[in-house]
Amino acid sequence: MSVKISPSVLTADFLTLKEDIKRLEDAGADMLHLDVMDGIFVPNISFGVPVIKSIKKHTLLPLDVHLMIDRPHRYIKEFAEVADYLGFHFEAGSDVADTLKEIRNLGCKSCLTIKPCTNPQAIFEFLPLCDMVLVMSVEPGFGGQKFMPSALSKLSVLREEIAKQGLDILLEVDGGINAETAPQAVKAGADVLVAGNYVFSAADMKATVENIKNL
Ligand code: DX5
Ligand code: ZN
Repeated sequence: MSVKISPSVLTADFLTLKEDIKRLEDAGADMLHLDVMDGIFVPNISFGVPVIKSIKKHTLLPLDVHLMIDRPHRYIKEFAEVADYLGFHFEAGSDVADTLKEIRNLGCKSCLTIKPCTNPQAIFEFLPLCDMVLVMSVEPGFGGQKFMPSALSKLSVLREEIAKQGLDILLEVDGGINAETAPQAVKAGADVLVAGNYVFSAADMKATVENIKNL
């Protein structure tokens, strides 16, 4: 299976987002990664359901929504109406199993996310309820940070456990992905790469996306 790329629009100019989404589609993006931040779970505020609703009107790409919000179970229904993959943080203070089940019951693919401080073993018991697992390779909150190599062993451990449990789960990595770190993450077992700054700052977006996907 080839690697999928899920560009994050966090660093895009929101007034020209429609054009940027078209450029990402033309460049071969597989999904769109949408970072929702509440200023409480992370020290930054981004956007919510209304913006995602508008984005949805202009693309057929699956929407990969990354909730960085406190007690995410409070908002699952609203986000499930606009997301394809709906992910939340293990550390965010919701009942993990119930929230994953609710996401699936509402017709979305469920995604559980771990911060750099969380051991992958902590989520082993929830894997059967996940369609995707997201390993953060930076502290959530901001784009443009440096990749933390500690994410690599977490990806390997999770990839092994997913195989051991006989599950079909996408393994996504988010933060600091570039030409140097993408091959390392793929080698460690990632099959979905989130990339924000690297894709948006590229002189040739299409060539950059193709390079990553052909790893
Ligand atoms: C960080 C976000 C990331 C971020 C990725 O909290 O979850 O999705 O936008 O951006 P880069 O690729 O620039 O690290
Ligand atoms: Zn993200």
